[in-house]
Parts: sequence; structure tokens; C-alpha cells
Amino acid sequence: MSRTHIDRAMSSYKKSRIRDIAVRRFLFVVSLTLAGVVLLFLLVGMNSSSELLKETKENSGEINSFNISGLIKSIKLPKHNHLSKMLENRNQLPPRNLDLYPILAKDRIVIVLYVHNRPQYFKLVVDSLSRVSGINETLLVVSHDGYFEEMNKIVEGIKFCQVKQVFAPYSPHIFPDSFPGVSHNDCRDKDSPIEKKCEGSSDQYGNHRSPKIVSLKHHWWWMMNTVWDGLKETTGYSGDILFIEEDHFIFPNAYHNLKILTKLKPTKCPDCYAANLAPSDVKSRGENWDGLIAERMGNVGYAFNRTVWRKIHRKAREFCLFDDYNWDITMWVTVYPSFGGPVYSMRGPRASAVHFGKCGLHQGQGETSACVDNGAVNIKIEEIDKVVNVKPEWGVHVMRDQDGYKAGFRGWGGWGDRRDHQLCLDFAKMYHVRSKTI
Ligand SMILES: *[C@@H]1O[C@H](CO)[C@@H](O)[C@H](O)[C@H]1NC(C)=O
Ligand SMILES: *[C@@H]1O[C@H](CO)[C@@H](O)[C@H](O)[C@H]1NC(C)=O
Ligand SMILES: *[C@@H]1O[C@H](CO)[C@@H](O)[C@H](O)[C@H]1NC(C)=O
Repeated sequence: MSRTHIDRAMSSYKKSRIRDIAVRRFLFVVSLTLAGVVLLFLLVGMNSSSELLKETKENSGEINSFNISGLIKSIKLPKHNHLSKMLENRNQLPPRNLDLYPILAKDRIVIVLYVHNRPQYFKLVVDSLSRVSGINETLLVVSHDGYFEEMNKIVEGIKFCQVKQVFAPYSPHIFPDSFPGVSHNDCRDKDSPIEKKCEGSSDQYGNHRSPKIVSLKHHWWWMMNTVWDGLKETTGYSGDILFIEEDHFIFPNAYHNLKILTKLKPTKCPDCYAANLAPSDVKSRGENWDGLIAERMGNVGYAFNRTVWRKIHRKAREFCLFDDYNWDITMWVTVYPSFGGPVYSMRGPRASAVHFGKCGLHQGQGETSACVDNGAVNIKIEEIDKVVNVKPEWGVHVMRDQDGYKAGFRGWGGWGDRRDHQLCLDFAKMYHVRSKTI
């Protein structure tokens, strides 16, 4: 063998050794990384499942929380009919107007508008929203109780921001002849289940359920669970969500005001869980002071974040078992007092939203007793309502000991049927169990 040959052989041997070492080192690094990743997955998995267990444990006292199969069996959502299945599928559709507004702002506040069937009001609300400055940077979710073409048409006309529709698939309005709607064997009014051999448990005043009335509390709870825990669009979203209703007129400055309020809230008012667009006294348009106000939570335009939602969600039993068909009274009497300290909401001194509906909860619900007003509203918007009118340098005035529903009130009834209690509890669990099993 010539010298050059040996050299070449040596060098190729060396090279291949070096390559060998490199390959081994590479493999070592790869397997180390893999082991790390596996470990991480295990840890995360353990973490999330223990969080789930904690959550379900906190939510369901009587269910053995370590028995996941028992938990799954404990959820008996009503059997889908054709329409409810269709709606469930429709809820998976992406938002509209993605072409017009492809990118949402990082610091957006998502808006959820929950509606039933008052198109003449809904039109006005949508019209007011179209003039809200900044709304084009966020997502609007419209949550429907029931399926009504006229309501859909209004949503289809929205062009001023991304908009997503969701429909409560288990609304009594979707089930014409079975629970959660009315079934033929249901007790009515003050029937005795034993004498009449009918189904149902009455409320504390002896009255049986009325599907049209319970639908409101069901819808609110289903919507809350869905927008926080059940939508792709809000998974990982850590901002606040603003909630408004089909008869809340929104002023042009509402969105920018709210952004300031939510930013200031944790430092200015540690006992404030939410921000509000309007005073809790729905007849008031504000005090016009030079200061912010902390007061009891109002139900016109309220916004809070996921941390607060988790606290509410943990009180599912309090919410679902309290015999009052009003979601807001239920919150004031059971959920907020259970937080173990004062619960305030922060707002500006001048309303950025007003409740205008004259048709209340009990009118406009039935086909026979539709509450008709022509939807004409006389809401004067002044220049000051078109621009930001809350100031970060303002102090906070706390309204203590306000009148209103509080812990101890026994409830107005209308929510005594055990099937409603169960459905409500199941709404609180549905996304948690599913995400674990599928
Ligand atoms: C889990 O719960 C189900 C239904 O409640 C029950 O039938 C089953 O025996 C339970 N399993 C265990 C291991 O406790
Ligand atoms: C939103 O509207 C404002 C004012 O009309 C405009 O300047 C801005 O470009 C719009 N943003 C988007 C994302 O459409
Ligand atoms: C959520 O809101 C609460 C109450 O205002 C606040 O203390 C907390 O910091 C907020 N969390 C996030 C992540 O913004």
C-alpha cells in the first residue's frame, strides 16, 4: 500500500469515526430531547387531568370525582332531534367576515350578544353596534336561544366586524314535544304528580316548570359555558368578554371606554370582578361625576375575564339548584356572595349602554301573547357619548350597602324541576368531560 493510500485510508477511517461519533452524539441529543418531551407531556397530562379532577370535584359534590366513567355516565344531555343536531353542527362553523377582517387585535375585548326572538329590538342593537368605534378589531359572538329566520337575517347583514353565531341546541324552543320543551306527560301549574301521574317536581311555591320561562336561565348558563370553554375562537383567549343583550343600545364610545376600564380595574379596584357599561340601576344614565364608580354588578353590558369565569363555574351547584328562574338574581343571591368578600363592578360616571326594551321576559315569548311595540326608541346620543369619556387619573367612588337582591333571598321560584337542575349541571360539565374523553 502506498503512503497516499494509507493516508487516504486513515483519513477516511478518521472521517467515518468522526461521522460515527457525530451520529452517536446526534442520536444521543435526539433521544435526550425525546425523553424530555415525553416527560413534559406526562407532566402536562398529569397537571391537566388533576386540574380537571379538581374542577369536577369542586363542581359536583355528590359525584366521586376520581371515577371518570361515573362522571361521563352522569351526563345525560337530552337526545338530539334533527334541528338540535343541525344547530350543534352549525356552531362549529367559522366566523363570518373573515375576508373583511382577517386579523383580530391582540388586546381585543370579545363581545357576546345573547338574543331570543325580538327582531325589532335586535335590529336596533346591531345598528348601534355598527357605530361603535373600535368594534372592527374584535369578534362578535351572537348566541341564539331558539332558531328564528328573521334573527338570522339580521346577523347575516352584519358587515362591521367578524361575527360568529352559536345556537343553544338544548333550548326548550328547539324541542317541541319533549324535555327541555314540554312533553305530553309533564305536570302543569299546580298539578300533583301523584294524583295526575304526571312528570315533574314543582318549585317552592308549588308550581311546575314553564319551558318558556326556564329557557332564559338555561340559555345564559349554556352560553357562558360555551363561550369560555367550548369555542375554538376563544380557546387560549385571556382577555375579558363583554356580554350584552338583544335590548341593550350601545353607544359609540362603549368599546374604547371598556378597554380603559378593564385595564384600570385590577389596580384601581381590587374588589371589582367586572367592568360595566351602565349603572346597575337600569333607569339611571349615570351621575356625570369626575370619577369612576364601583358598585354591585349590573346586568347591562358587563365584562369579566376567565379568572372570574372559573370562580363562577366552580359555583355551578349554587347556580343550578337555586329556585329562581332569573339568572341575574341567582348570581346576586348565591354565586357572588359565595366568593367570600365584596364583589363590585367598575364603571364610568356616564352610561355607554342603555336597556331600552319595554317587552319584558314574560311578554314577547309566546306566539299568542307577543309583546308588540314598534321598537321605536328615543335614545339621544350626544357628542360626549361618541368619544372616550373615562379618565385613568380619576379616583374610584365605592357604593357600599346598595339595595338589591342579596344572600338570604329565597328566590322567585320557577326553577324547581329536578330535570332543569340536572340539565344545568350537565352544561357545566359538558366541555370538561368531552375534552377528556375524545
Ligand atoms: C363509577 O361510577 C359508576 C356510575 O356512577 C358506577 O357504576 C361504578 O361502579 C363506579 N366505579 C368505581 C370504580 O367506583
Ligand atoms: C377599523 O376602523 C377604523 C376607523 O374607521 C380604521 O381606521 C381601521 O383601519 C379599521 N380597522 C380594521 C381592521 O378594519
Ligand atoms: C382578571 O380579573 C381580575 C379581577 O379584576 C383581576 O384581578 C385579574 O388580574 C385578571 N386576570 C387577568 C389575566 O387579566
